[in-house]
Amino acid sequence: MPTFKLDGKPIPFEPGDTIIRAAWKLGIEIPHYCWHPGLTAPANCRMCLVEILPKPGQRPLTLDILELDTKTGEYRTAQKPKLQPSCYMAAAEGMEVLSDTSEHVKRARHDVQEFLLLNHPVDCPICDQSGECKLQDYWLDHMQTKKRMRDEPVHKPKGVVFGPTIVYDGERCVMCTRCVRFMAEVAKDPVLDMRERGNLNEIVVSPGRQLDGHYTFMTEHVCPVGALTTKDFRFKARVWFLRTAAAVCQGCATGCNAHLDYDPRYNKAYRYRPRDNEKVNKFWMCDEGMLTYKEAHDGRVPEALVGGKEKPLGAALDQARALFSGVPKESIAIVLSAQHSLEDNWALRELGTVLIGSKSVFKSGKPDGYEDTILIHRDKNPNSKGVEQLAPGVKALPLLVDEVKASRITHVIALGGAAAVDVDGLRSAKVVVVAAHAGPLTQVANVVLPATSWAEHAGTYANVKGLRQESEKALEPLGASRPAWAQLAALATALGYEPSWKSMKQIRTRLGGAADARPASLPATAGAGQLGGGAE
Ligand code: SF4
Ligand code: SF4
Ligand code: FES
Repeated sequence: MPTFKLDGKPIPFEPGDTIIRAAWKLGIEIPHYCWHPGLTAPANCRMCLVEILPKPGQRPLTLDILELDTKTGEYRTAQKPKLQPSCYMAAAEGMEVLSDTSEHVKRARHDVQEFLLLNHPVDCPICDQSGECKLQDYWLDHMQTKKRMRDEPVHKPKGVVFGPTIVYDGERCVMCTRCVRFMAEVAKDPVLDMRERGNLNEIVVSPGRQLDGHYTFMTEHVCPVGALTTKDFRFKARVWFLRTAAAVCQGCATGCNAHLDYDPRYNKAYRYRPRDNEKVNKFWMCDEGMLTYKEAHDGRVPEALVGGKEKPLGAALDQARALFSGVPKESIAIVLSAQHSLEDNWALRELGTVLIGSKSVFKSGKPDGYEDTILIHRDKNPNSKGVEQLAPGVKALPLLVDEVKASRITHVIALGGAAAVDVDGLRSAKVVVVAAHAGPLTQVANVVLPATSWAEHAGTYANVKGLRQESEKALEPLGASRPAWAQLAALATALGYEPSWKSMKQIRTRLGGAADARPASLPATAGAGQLGGGAE
């Protein structure tokens, strides 16, 4: 692979890589605002300037400047190297580039930073980006001096509602155009643009339109400063109180990688942010997926239910035993869930087909919905593929309703509350459901055992391509909930069997090892702002 040198360090690159991208691939940051690895480069912020040394015999690229002679107090003509934007300059074999080691580059970064802050309100104490803002980070890294301008800054529109989800603050905007390019290049809806010139620049929505669609949250995420905020997260939390877990979005079969930001003091999830994964979601997530963090709390089944009434877990297990006592295995069916993890489904398959000996295996999940060619899959379940891998030829839920109506099946053990079809016909059977969320199946259940949500225990999910991805635990379990695989072990014991699984580790060994994609290990104590882990 060809290489160039950055501050003396050899950097390998692929043909076509820019200097900044080659460095970024190695985890070396050249400061930048407008560049984003998933977007085109307009090279408009000038924060990424670097010095490229001339090759032997090559004429150096220089600029004529006026320099103050401090002894005489007079200006004199001088020359300095012409710095180049590393986000636009292609890497070339043998090139020598100076970034952190060039005094000219350091001065340029300081001055670009001062320029960007000239008219900036510096309202960090009330800004949602505070703690994860590039202006803050780069002031500390590259400026560290007070603003010299004493004039009233130029004022611009504030609190502009761009659409149902996003609010814009023109005074905080550094005009990097990342939001404009994201909407045009990724969302394929060029609804944002820049108007006016110089210090009157502002970002606007096309006349007659609003910023809407399925990818508006990403404009806030690519914004390097606090100019775009989501109505959902605005004024809700300070990011330095948040911790983050590497999660897998539960919104559809794409299985986008996400950071789940939560506040451990309140055991509460606050937002999702995309986690980079070139193979799955690149740098992006959709709005619907970003909002599924709310399901860590909403629609939950926190306590055991018997006949729809809350009961202690022991009483619910006793009731399950009473319902299933002496029932022949041919009359018992199990329902795996595309909403639950591979581990949870494995435990139910083990209980149903090995311990009980049933041959009737069905699957449930949420109904299909909107899809596009960007990210969103019509299958709104995170683990349909996993269920198919565990139980090839697994039958659809309507067939179970038919079996129950024909009295061939009289008893059902199901995972998850979701169902895509009318399951009222199951009321004539005795149904035990282990679920994190309420849904049609919990409504027809005689006994419900509360399970932890994906946010409360680690789990593995196979996305539409069959890629097994692990989602980390973030929150503590709600109420009496426990991981579904643990509830199923308790249910197995209550029904008189000896469960062959006692831990997640045992299940994973039986499942064939770890997930294909494990999240990179993250420091436990750093705030979400430091834990970007993503592109930006
Ligand atoms: S709103 Fe944010 S992303 Fe858009 S141009 Fe301004 S600073 Fe850049
Ligand atoms: S595309 Fe699917 S997996 Fe990705 S964020 Fe949206 S809902 Fe979640
Ligand atoms: S990152 Fe290169 S000019 Fe903005």
